[in-house]
Amino acid sequence: MTGYAAITGWGKCVPPAVLTNEEIASVIDTSDEWIRTRSGIIERRVSHVPGSDLAAVAAQRALAAADADVKDVDLLIVATCTPDTVIPSTAAHVQRKTGAYNAAVFDLNAGCSGFVYGLTVATSMIRSGAFKKALVIGSERITWFLNWSLRDTAVLFGDGAGAVVVEPSEEECGLLFSHLGCEGDAADALQIPDFGTTGNRFAADYGVFGVQFDGREIFRRAVKGMAMETKIVLEELGLTTHDIDRIIPHQANLRIIESLAKYLSVDMSRVEVNIHNYGNTSAATIPVAMTEALEAGRIKSGDRILLAAFGAGLTRAAGLIRWGERTTPLKLSDAELPPCNQSALEILAEAIEHTL
Ligand code: ACO
Repeated sequence: MTGYAAITGWGKCVPPAVLTNEEIASVIDTSDEWIRTRSGIIERRVSHVPGSDLAAVAAQRALAAADADVKDVDLLIVATCTPDTVIPSTAAHVQRKTGAYNAAVFDLNAGCSGFVYGLTVATSMIRSGAFKKALVIGSERITWFLNWSLRDTAVLFGDGAGAVVVEPSEEECGLLFSHLGCEGDAADALQIPDFGTTGNRFAADYGVFGVQFDGREIFRRAVKGMAMETKIVLEELGLTTHDIDRIIPHQANLRIIESLAKYLSVDMSRVEVNIHNYGNTSAATIPVAMTEALEAGRIKSGDRILLAAFGAGLTRAAGLIRWGERTTPLKLSDAELPPCNQSALEILAEAIEHTL
């Protein structure tokens, strides 16, 4: 391993259709008060396009921020658990939509930890010297996989995408160390049953699927798992939580984030929180939150930023980023999604009708 792998560009793309708690409560048995107090979520976005469209726009914005030519991208990773298609990969769709034809492309499914997994893979591949310009994208259209008769899961998720550009650097910056794990003994605690080759394709209701979970079990394991991975990362780098400028945790539940901050003895003012706007966007969460932190000036040159995530698998991950000199984009992209002329409830109407 030689040199480092700097994050030189960043971008996000959230679809325009907003779904509020009140709108959900108008179609299923729940309330704004329950969702807000149990999860911290107030609204989320619902995509009118496939996840690869969100990913492609986020990627083009990240490339502009780095002032990078898409033809120079030689590695493109899409972290997603809600692919457009099983074959080809979402990454192949993103290649076509961005024109990144000189890139090796693949999807990576580590649930909500997918972006930290993807950044770890890309950083290692850049630091090995084999690749020169990587796009790491977290993108999800998870509302497409919701079963509206399962009110505990249906209220928690939203769609979006975030992306970063990673390039070689001599400066000590980028992802300095990360640690990844998985608790496969609890793999069934969060799943989309009957989708894939274990499903019964001859069943009458094949095609009615949705995210199911054991919320309490995941809650318990999420706090413990993220704290454990964080401890490993900090110990490896000889740091304590006092050395951390900002924490960007996965956003599954505000109470999980607050419990993690309490465990780490970190004041919530140093923690990025945007769950109220987007819900849980799985692998898109961390790059979206990172982009928003940069846009709002909450990340400064040289900051030490801790990432922590937990998700389907049950995967767990933590990583420490040392931010480089530049915190502003070099250029802006004019990439946009196709216009959306439906409300969030209209986009979801068929799915809600079918699953209720
Ligand atoms: N509206 C109203 N009531 C509801 C809803 C809803 N949408 N969903 C569940 N309830 C009811 C339940 O039926 C239960 O009622 P009962 O006591 O009469 O049986 C009651 O609310 C309490 O349910 P709990 O499961 O105890 O609620 P809790 O406070 O644990 O919160 C939640 C549930 C929000 C799911 C929480 O456990 C959680 O956030 N878990 C982890 C998040 C998660 O798994 N995310 C998935 C991705 S993995 C990751 O990203 C970390």
